[in-house]
Amino acid sequence: MEFHASSTSCLDWSGDALIIGLSEDALPLSTTLAELNSRVSGLLQELIDEAEFTGKSGTTAITRVGSGAAMRKLGVVGLGATDAITTESLRRAAAAAARLAKKEKCSSLGLSMPVLNHDAALTAQALAEGARLALHQDNRFKSDDKANGKITLTRIDLLGLPDQEASLKAAQAVCEGVILARELVSAPANIVTPETLAQTAQAIATDYGLELDILEQEQCEALGMGAYLGVARASDLPPKFIHLTYRPAGTPTRKLAIVGKGLTFDSGGLNIKGAGSGIEMMKIDMGGAAATLGAAKAIAQLKPNVEVHFISAAAENMIGGNAMRPGDILTASNGKTIEVNNTDAEGRLTLADALVFAEKLGVDAIVDLATLTGACIIALGDDIAGLFSENDELAGAIATAAEAAGEKFWRLPMEEKYFDGLKSIVADMKNTGPRPGGSITAALFLKQFVNTTPWIHLDVAGPVWTEKENGYNNPGGTGFGVRTLVQWVLAAA
Ligand code: BES
Ligand code: MN
Ligand code: ZN
Repeated sequence: MEFHASSTSCLDWSGDALIIGLSEDALPLSTTLAELNSRVSGLLQELIDEAEFTGKSGTTAITRVGSGAAMRKLGVVGLGATDAITTESLRRAAAAAARLAKKEKCSSLGLSMPVLNHDAALTAQALAEGARLALHQDNRFKSDDKANGKITLTRIDLLGLPDQEASLKAAQAVCEGVILARELVSAPANIVTPETLAQTAQAIATDYGLELDILEQEQCEALGMGAYLGVARASDLPPKFIHLTYRPAGTPTRKLAIVGKGLTFDSGGLNIKGAGSGIEMMKIDMGGAAATLGAAKAIAQLKPNVEVHFISAAAENMIGGNAMRPGDILTASNGKTIEVNNTDAEGRLTLADALVFAEKLGVDAIVDLATLTGACIIALGDDIAGLFSENDELAGAIATAAEAAGEKFWRLPMEEKYFDGLKSIVADMKNTGPRPGGSITAALFLKQFVNTTPWIHLDVAGPVWTEKENGYNNPGGTGFGVRTLVQWVLAAA
């Protein structure tokens, strides 16, 4: 798929499908569109009238244009109310247009959209992201050639947007990161293992010249990572502690750490997930690590003046004679002891040692992403991630980045009193509290492993996967988190 952005207007473009973005208050047609309408013998107005198209966001209509015209098909896509247009509505509109052009078997698409806030760069990047992500379909595990459906759409022209090569390049880098994260999440646990996650990190390091350190089990033992290794113990697959570092050419303005939960499969351990628990979906339990590596791939190409450490304590939570038992006491690398009252609360155990490791690097801020609790899905549903932080500045920076990225987060309280639910008779804490407020006690548990560094925890259990097509997402892994992370790191530069 090739993107081109140029000054060419919708009046001069020729190709398969010309699709115009229209807001609810864009009718009657502007002078340019009235001119386009007359060049296609009134077909544009006819299409709008016949489809009763009002510009409502998400709606589309398309018609065939008679031979002799500059385009084969002419379509419209709704943008909603003019004053409510955002980068996210542009992404979604571009996605709808790209899907429509593909469905109509067009190989070229001319996209004519309003420029948001006179910012051509932001507009071009949002349009390219939306279209590219909508067209990404993951058929790696389908043997049927037809299912692998050749993408017919090969070229998209962003009209009326000259000099946007840099924006298109940025969109491309971001989308490569999102697509990497999607594919890591969608691949099953017999394909994506701690070892292959480490290999993915190695490929990024090699391709873009990043530093990579993979700590093997013995090295983790030497660092005292008893919580992480307790989780990894029953798997036949060895744990891999991934530490990938991006260093800018100049002196970095900031040093940041991104930590992702990397459970390539979560059986629950001896507190095994029962029938109806969604155990067959627990390949997604490395969604945080996937976003971390996806962000690394994008950031390595965008080259901001920030040092970023990408970390994941990758492991598989399995059962066996060597498994950690419910009731076992583990010692984390900061010396704190944990009574494992539930082996299915394993993500926080792996994150405990990863957070201690991240803080020792002397970074200015730590963000962790984790498919941590089912309780967060109960609270916020599938589309919204939980955000936990005691640092308002960091929470604000992530919220701003998320807004620009079009990813949804909702801040939940770190209610200190709920830590009572984690009190243990025999150890410093238990790993699991009572069911009410389960996402909050999980965040409070993590807090025990960060001393003074500004830190934010993002519970992404819901949005890393979607069963249904939604905007520019297709069923499967969504790559959630990558765009917020990239935006946050760029803003820190
Ligand atoms: N990986 C799960 C959380 C999860 C659930 C992610 C559904 C995505 C979809 C996590 O390790 C887990 O099992 N959490 C338990 C915690 C409980 C034992 C305190 C949960 O949410 O039930
Ligand atoms: Mn679990
Ligand atoms: Zn888990």
